[in-house]
Amino acid sequence: MIEAGDLTTYKPKVIVFSYTEELDQFATSRFVEQMTAKPHSVLTLPTGSTPKGMYDLLVKLRRAQDADFNGLTIYNLDEYWPIKRDHPSSYTQYMRENFINHVNVRNDRWHIPNGEARDANDEAAYYEDLLCQSGRVDLAIIGIGPGTTCHIGFNERGSSIESRTRYMPLDEQTRQVNSRFFRDPNEIPSGTITQGVANILEAKSILLLAKGESKAWGINQTLNGPIGPEFPSSYLRYHPDVTVAIDQAAAGLLSR
Ligand code: GLP
Repeated sequence: MIEAGDLTTYKPKVIVFSYTEELDQFATSRFVEQMTAKPHSVLTLPTGSTPKGMYDLLVKLRRAQDADFNGLTIYNLDEYWPIKRDHPSSYTQYMRENFINHVNVRNDRWHIPNGEARDANDEAAYYEDLLCQSGRVDLAIIGIGPGTTCHIGFNERGSSIESRTRYMPLDEQTRQVNSRFFRDPNEIPSGTITQGVANILEAKSILLLAKGESKAWGINQTLNGPIGPEFPSSYLRYHPDVTVAIDQAAAGLLSR
């Protein structure tokens, strides 16, 4: 965990996979290892296309081997705001459809910001309180935004290392890319509620997943660029236990 004023930098462990399936399997194994070592783990989890393969494998494990998710406490990274919880493109619905409805995570131990909340700032404060009550997150599995956004959660460019759960307007680039998830692209909400950079960095261990060429610039910047608010994912280099698991396309700009 980063102590105030401690800006020691570390080299994340980078693993490049030739096949998407291998990456999904790796993420799944890391999840299961954590859950086995500590059944009452607190996890931060992502949404998006990248972790979908991991959720599919976890659901298969539940069906085939009766994997036990009952002890876990889960905090999602983010949610759009405003959005109805059962909107097909909400992250709440994504989690239900891809994971929660198929495993035995306890409903009272799965948390995600409420996109229906009347006041986004109040909801962010409530979520921050909940998150803090659970103690330190054991493992945060996160993705990275597309193009030059370098966002983690929805911490867009300009986010500070001290940022905590809050309302965040969508970056124009993110809006354009993520509108593909909405039936009518104009339906994409104007904002989000996201865990802050500080919340993510407080996890004991962080696993960053990235797939595809659209992530190559961001991954290179995360690992080799300047560290600062213009590249929020670069803050991960202040954390001593980060693994970056990526496919070859996302590794495309890393020097060999
Ligand atoms: C959204 C989420 C991020 C996620 C990113 C990547 O923008 N807020 O938390 O990392 O999507 O999405 P995908 O995996 O679809 O590329």
